[in-house]
Amino acid sequence: MNSSLPVQENVDLAPLLTLRTPAQARFYLCAQSIAEIRQGLEFARARDLPVLLLGGGSNLILVEDFDGLVLHLGLKGVTYTPQEDGSCIVRAAAGENWHELVTNTVARGYRGLENLALIPGTVGAAPVQNIGAYGVELKDTLTRVEVLDRRTFQCRTLTNPECGFSYRNSLFKTSDGQHFIILAVEFRLDRSRPLQVGYGDLARVLESRGAEMTEASVMQAVMEIRRSKLPDPKLIPNVGSFFMNPIVDCRQFQHLQQQYPQIAHYPLHDGRHKLAAGWLIDQAGWKGYREGNVGVHDRQALVLINPGQGRGSEVIELARKIQRDILQRFGVALNIEPVRVPGD
Ligand code: EPU
Repeated sequence: MNSSLPVQENVDLAPLLTLRTPAQARFYLCAQSIAEIRQGLEFARARDLPVLLLGGGSNLILVEDFDGLVLHLGLKGVTYTPQEDGSCIVRAAAGENWHELVTNTVARGYRGLENLALIPGTVGAAPVQNIGAYGVELKDTLTRVEVLDRRTFQCRTLTNPECGFSYRNSLFKTSDGQHFIILAVEFRLDRSRPLQVGYGDLARVLESRGAEMTEASVMQAVMEIRRSKLPDPKLIPNVGSFFMNPIVDCRQFQHLQQQYPQIAHYPLHDGRHKLAAGWLIDQAGWKGYREGNVGVHDRQALVLINPGQGRGSEVIELARKIQRDILQRFGVALNIEPVRVPGD
């Protein structure tokens, strides 16, 4: 082992997870450079330990202690490279804070990320679940992702199509992509792309204000909506949406709509329908429910909360109860969205 490598032992991860679940890491390293990432991987390999990558800890549930190396990605740096056509290539290192990146791009007058304001977490974690909100997804502006291959320790660049993005999903969530460590993300932003303001809540807030539509006013409206519905993880521990919005075929949708004419849904291009998991959970009466340390947020039923700083297993137990209930009532299976360690 490189003796200068700042590896710590038996580190409490709760402060590094927005769900604040207590869990110990046997070893912990905050890597500030690619060289330190490689050294951390060598450290783990030499001891035959598993490695868990950590960004902002805002989409991660540790169900038990981690008997391996937690590698916290602390790479920093953002560059803006204006292009001749008026667009700008923005490259941000994995350890940068996502929301700060959004506000900085908007302050410079660039469009493309404004709908994704206030999403907790780091830049490097954003491609993993293809973060999305208010009609925009990361994949809409992302051009390339720089990665390090854990098996070979080599760096390479993946193009947008190579990242296999879809709703809350990417290559990085699959067995083919789990060996990639995201080092940096590149976007193409510009000053004139059409603003995406069609999403129900967003359209209502912007209309009620009657203000000029700019990337800054859209970002402000998004922040207002998020603050009104979603709990601030610093005050009420949570990992955002706990379940993905389920997609059902046309037949099942028609059947559900007959029974529940008010059912919240978004038609997809292929005839299927995406249902609002929050609506289903709310209808089933779970909103505001509390069980011991954990519960369901009282303003958005899709968000599980951990105000009592309970263990990851308590949160998962509540999630299982909700999944069973929704399956029984509506015949719809809900999938947990954040990454769980260990997985199923
Ligand atoms: N709804 C209810 N009750 C609830 C929650 C929602 O009836 O408790 C209804 C709403 O009235 C609305 C529909 O369900 O008709 C959808 O609700 P909302 O607009 O709040 O969005 P969502 O589908 O619940 C998704 C994302 C959020 C993102 C918002 C806005 C997923 C899993 N979640 O939530 O993402 O901010 O849309 O685009 O796709 C996250 O991933 O952590 C996250 C917060």
